[in-house]
Amino acid sequence: MTLRDKQLPAFFRKFTFPVAFIFYLISGQVVAQPATVIPIESQQNALAIGIDAEKRAGVIYFGAKLNNASEYQHAPAMYRQGDDYSGILHSAYTPSGSRNLVEPAIWVTHADGNTSLDLQYVSHQVQKTDNNVSTTSILLRDPVYGLEVTLYYKVYAQENVIEQWSVIKNNEKGNVTLHKYASANLYLKASEYYLKHYHGDWAKEMKTEEIRLTPGIKVLDTKLGTRANLYQPPTFMVSLDKAASETEGRVLYGSVEWSGNFRIDLEVDPLNNLRVIAGINPHASTYTLAKGQEFTTPMFVYTYSEHGKGEASRNMHRWARKYKIMQGNGSRLTLLNNWEATYFDFNETKLAELIKDTKKLGVDMFLLDDGWFANKYPRNSDNAGLGDWQENVKKLPHGIGYLVKEAQNNQVKFGIWVEPEMVNPKSELYEKHPDWIIRQPGRSEHLYRNQLVLDLSNPKVQDFVFGVLDNILTKNPGVAFFKWDCNAVIYNAYSSYLKDKQSHLYVEYVRGLYKVLQRFRAKYPELPMMLCSGGGGRVDYGALQYFTEFWLSDNTDPLERIFIQWEYSYFFPAISHDNHVTDWGKQPIKFRTDVAMMGKLGFDIVVSELKAEDLKFCQDAVSTYKSISDVVWHGDLYRLANPRENDFASLMYVNEAKNRAVMFNYLVSNRYGAGSGSPVKLGGLEPAKKYQVKEINLYPGTKTDITGETSYSGNYLMTVGYNPMVNARRASVILEITEAK
Ligand code: DGJ
Repeated sequence: MTLRDKQLPAFFRKFTFPVAFIFYLISGQVVAQPATVIPIESQQNALAIGIDAEKRAGVIYFGAKLNNASEYQHAPAMYRQGDDYSGILHSAYTPSGSRNLVEPAIWVTHADGNTSLDLQYVSHQVQKTDNNVSTTSILLRDPVYGLEVTLYYKVYAQENVIEQWSVIKNNEKGNVTLHKYASANLYLKASEYYLKHYHGDWAKEMKTEEIRLTPGIKVLDTKLGTRANLYQPPTFMVSLDKAASETEGRVLYGSVEWSGNFRIDLEVDPLNNLRVIAGINPHASTYTLAKGQEFTTPMFVYTYSEHGKGEASRNMHRWARKYKIMQGNGSRLTLLNNWEATYFDFNETKLAELIKDTKKLGVDMFLLDDGWFANKYPRNSDNAGLGDWQENVKKLPHGIGYLVKEAQNNQVKFGIWVEPEMVNPKSELYEKHPDWIIRQPGRSEHLYRNQLVLDLSNPKVQDFVFGVLDNILTKNPGVAFFKWDCNAVIYNAYSSYLKDKQSHLYVEYVRGLYKVLQRFRAKYPELPMMLCSGGGGRVDYGALQYFTEFWLSDNTDPLERIFIQWEYSYFFPAISHDNHVTDWGKQPIKFRTDVAMMGKLGFDIVVSELKAEDLKFCQDAVSTYKSISDVVWHGDLYRLANPRENDFASLMYVNEAKNRAVMFNYLVSNRYGAGSGSPVKLGGLEPAKKYQVKEINLYPGTKTDITGETSYSGNYLMTVGYNPMVNARRASVILEITEAK
């Protein structure tokens, strides 16, 4: 077929080409059909990349999968949105400096100093990993400079998830400078766009806004270096046409898999289409690519649903459990942590008592927190000792080994806290290796929580950080768990190791961190580990492939926690949520425990000070939790009543067989009469199955009318609903829903 044949509808082809083309333009049909279409399809969705006659790759379709893939090519011709003078507003990877005038995905300076880039399609291929996973790669090349970009789209068909990334290759005669190097560039069409994004600070994680995007660019980003999402996480969602609800509406979820500076541009362009560009934040991160070298960006993961936010979450959760989070379909250890019970004030005897309390409580593990190390500058507060990873001889005269043994004697496991990436100026590490620390020579230091960040771009520092964990495990093979903390941001970014490549620091820091984690996982593939960051300042899917779970926030006030856990639940499955019962908040122990049970349950309280009935409640709660944890960890989540819109929050998990479910309900208002006035419609059950509904986790001596005696069909529970009878006297209610035999 000639170009003319491909581009002009049949009617116009009867005229000579120039005449036909003029008629064609006059008729208003100026949108040419792509010459080649590359459909990238999951079970429900499709992203179609069209290659135009000038070999430029653009997104021509994003949405529900069509029955016939040959029809994606017709989609562009259906729009009359105005003129795209550049012809590449919908570019699959927008270059800078040639015809593009909007936000680029890539911006480079070539070896000869020229700053223009054009990318043309060369070839594409599809590689199948198995029946569910396949990767489409599209090779683009600059016809003048030979610089290459390969776009990768890894599709998880059943989960309707795509991971997208790019590899940039310098084929020039000298260095190429990368000013911007995004992972992904999407193009969405809708009448309106509603962005739900997050922001916060310590103890205020996951505050959220849902806003209508207006023409121009909204940027989500961080420049903090480490614990990157203290102010803003790399996760967001965009609803198309109208704000999606849990069960209705078109919605895209996205997240950058990178534990450092990220940037997401959401640009409503002059045609009212949405350009999404996501990846590493190029801020202060110009990257020099030597001749022949490649730059691989991190992945940008996304899912899309036409049935609301609930389905999009379940897509993300299933994918994360199966493919991303370590042991995502495995089990987790319940625990007693000593942080809030002791802070830095403990010794061997006190810890031995806490280990006994761990056993008494019935949880699986005792977790020793901060304060166990350093001698010259003992770690008795957060202003000294960080970096000196030898047991403090006063607090632990017999070392960690003694505690591991104590734990074994009490048939519980032993876990330990580390914060290996950081250092207090008051430490031996700081004295011995000032060159290992990120700080500006000649400027005064600026500390965050009295500490500085080690320079993980330096291989010697990588060895040191790996060694912190490896030494503990080599000496104490019985250690069963790490809590990996990270409490500082990068101020005064400067690496004495990187010398004249300072602008590589933010990128190389994260790469260095991943190298350590890869090395750790090569040697200790199974050891469970918590990703912690003085609250939820770090969680992302780049890191979670090395961790089994994460710490959501230091704020464990259960009322606050309902909102924090609710928002995290859009993106991260319950099996990864570490929730601890603490003394924060004014609610009774039952409320606090019920809230923690909607993720992975832990405790951080003084067990010996619990009233007898409270202790009994906690012990029973631990065994109840063990009986339902399979459903919470591996089940599908249905958010039923949003605490921002109701007096209470309701959500439930349903197992795959749909014969067991657990529903959590929490009162979030103390206004007069607040509670669940009407039934709450359940989700995810089998309409034809019969279920018994029974209240569990009751406080000793309390009674309930929800006893499981009546059975209801799934159809009834999902159409009429069920009232958990939440009110001021029953502020938290957990219901177990079991198929009636
Ligand atoms: C911050 C963490 O979030 C806390 O749980 C605790 O581990 C402290 N750091 C210890 O310094």
